[in-house]
Amino acid sequence: MKLFYEVIYRYFRAPWDIGAREELVSLVESGRLKPCRAIDLGCGTGENAIYLAQKGFDVTGVDYAEAAIEKARVRARETGVQVNFIVDDLTNLRHVSGTFDFMLDYGVLDDLRLHQREPYLHNMLPLSHLGSRYLLWGFEYPMRWWERFVPFYDIPFYPGEIEERFGEYFEIERIAGKVDYSKMAARLRSLFADAERRSAMRSWLMSLNGAITFSVIAFLTFLGRAFMDWRYEYPYQDPAGNWDTPGALIYMGLAGGWLWGLLAAARGSRRGLIGCLIAVLLLDVAFALATYFFFCPPWTGCTGWPNAWSWNWSNLISGAIAAVALSFQLRQGKLKQPTG
Ligand SMILES: C[S@@+](CC[C@H](N)C(=O)[O-])C[C@H]1O[C@@H](n2cnc3c(N)ncnc32)[C@H](O)[C@@H]1O
Repeated sequence: MKLFYEVIYRYFRAPWDIGAREELVSLVESGRLKPCRAIDLGCGTGENAIYLAQKGFDVTGVDYAEAAIEKARVRARETGVQVNFIVDDLTNLRHVSGTFDFMLDYGVLDDLRLHQREPYLHNMLPLSHLGSRYLLWGFEYPMRWWERFVPFYDIPFYPGEIEERFGEYFEIERIAGKVDYSKMAARLRSLFADAERRSAMRSWLMSLNGAITFSVIAFLTFLGRAFMDWRYEYPYQDPAGNWDTPGALIYMGLAGGWLWGLLAAARGSRRGLIGCLIAVLLLDVAFALATYFFFCPPWTGCTGWPNAWSWNWSNLISGAIAAVALSFQLRQGKLKQPTG
């Protein structure tokens, strides 16, 4: 997850980067929350922290994504406020000390895997004192069956989790209301309502550019999978590290071949497209299926293990889409024939 956040913050604008949040603003503007010593846990690029600082709070912002903290510092400088931004892991805090009157968690705890939530609590509780207030924003609902299969899907709070985890330490004032999805749904519908836009999307999806884009996504999930295997799986399977060098060479060879296929396909080469399709089918689709059935046969009730689970599904889904797009391009037959 950390890598995911680093990439998002370094190269993109995060979708949650939308300014100080409504609930926080309303607490401050209504005067219910007065300037005090505050900490934003998982502050991202610091929108909430900066807002609080503008309102006279003495603010610390913590996040483990360095790219987020770099952006937050620049923003604070540009806004002309002083915020103490710290890079640290909320499940193992080493650089944050003292206590805070107000603690804010906007969409962080429900981002953590279940086994990380208890360590988070152990780390955040010492930052509180008698009378500290804590605003926690997250999703709470019973997980739907299909959500288990979505790569990187955040695990929402299960009903009752907040009371279970925090009831002993905080007097819970309110477990909040609902998110209004109707605006989001309407916006999504309007995106597809226009026939011209729909047809432009369809042509792009069926174009060479579409096929290459899907293949690049499939390729990236392969690299992500290789990284996770190297980081978590192989040290476990092969603690002596005998497989490190041959494993790295094999992965580099496979990735190199695939990259060649991608570059050639992007230039419209049929041979490149075929190479790419073979790589996608073998390394994303077949490998993901084999891993799934070998390590985690569904008939044994296995529910997967945290890292490989998401990567396996992202390999499989992106690989299947890329394979269809590439096959479609090959069928069109308008491409350059292999030379030599
Ligand atoms: C969904 S974003 C929300 C960011 C911010 N609170 C906001 O509302 O814009 C979740 C944030 O939590 C951070 N985060 C996730 N796990 C963390 C951890 N273990 N330690 C520190 N930060 C973490 C991520 O880097 C990311 O910035």
